[in-house]
Amino acid sequence: MKKIAILTRDCGGVNAAIRAVVRTAVASGLQVEGVMRGYEGLIRGDFVPLDRRSVSNIIGLGGTILKTARSEDFMGEEGQKTALANIRARSIEGLVVIGGNGSLAGARVLASEYGFPVVGIPATIDNDVPGVENAIGADTAVNVALDAVDKIRDTATSLERIFVVEVMGRKCGWLAMQVALAGGCEEVLLPEKDVPLEALCAEIKEGSARGKASWIIVVAEGRSTASAVASAVTAATGLETRIAVLGHIQRGGRPTAFDRILAARLGHAAVEALVDGRTGGCVHLQNGRVEFLPFGAAGDKKKPDIESDYHLLKVLS
Ligand code: F6P
Repeated sequence: MKKIAILTRDCGGVNAAIRAVVRTAVASGLQVEGVMRGYEGLIRGDFVPLDRRSVSNIIGLGGTILKTARSEDFMGEEGQKTALANIRARSIEGLVVIGGNGSLAGARVLASEYGFPVVGIPATIDNDVPGVENAIGADTAVNVALDAVDKIRDTATSLERIFVVEVMGRKCGWLAMQVALAGGCEEVLLPEKDVPLEALCAEIKEGSARGKASWIIVVAEGRSTASAVASAVTAATGLETRIAVLGHIQRGGRPTAFDRILAARLGHAAVEALVDGRTGGCVHLQNGRVEFLPFGAAGDKKKPDIESDYHLLKVLS
């Protein structure tokens, strides 16, 4: 193998992973090209050469230096064949794909339907990749959201108010659960757990009668919206509410030390796997060791163990 390419989505730690892939590849005598704008760039033939210096000083930067985009065209056979022709025309013999379930599904197609050597690195704030404990970017997103929740707590306590904070995560409640636990929040509403709003409102009324004045309720975007929950709480309790929708700030920001180190380990391991011919899967960390996980079936879903964390949250709140 003489030349590999890297394709990415964006979240905290992706640049650190690009750096690790490039520097490991160069140290192994490989040339590296970056694919601009994800699968769109693969179809358009938009590549940039990367060397040791092109990844200097990016370890602490959020986002991705390669930019990214969603690609409808790559879903179809024509787009996939054009992408592959572009890869082959540039004598690229292996691909590292850094991203979440959508990006890894594309990687699985290239590997299983076209036999192209691909290694994935899970990177998503949703932390919803099946079989993977920690995706790059998830820890950074928890810390970004936690910083916001801590600030909301200051004003919620001072004004004795109820806040509903909406957290990202697509259809998965992992991010919301972590933020609620770390922020000492009173309630979390998740797609994986049915906490009826009537029960929540009854709890707030009861607490209010005892003199409890401020609440922070975290809602995962996959369950409901902050405004729907806040309206329901006000209607049922007569108490004033405020909302905060954290949105895309959770996908940005300087990566935490945890994500940078994870990125270093997985970027390094991805290149080693390509060189050793272990392809068609992801590298990830399990019990502190790098493991290789073959790409799963399309539509596989991660089932986070919400119950024990939810129980903990309720005991401590
Ligand atoms: O998958 C990452 C994520 O940030 C989700 O948490 C969110 O639902 C989605 O992407 C937002 O997508 P977009 O950036 O296209 O609005």
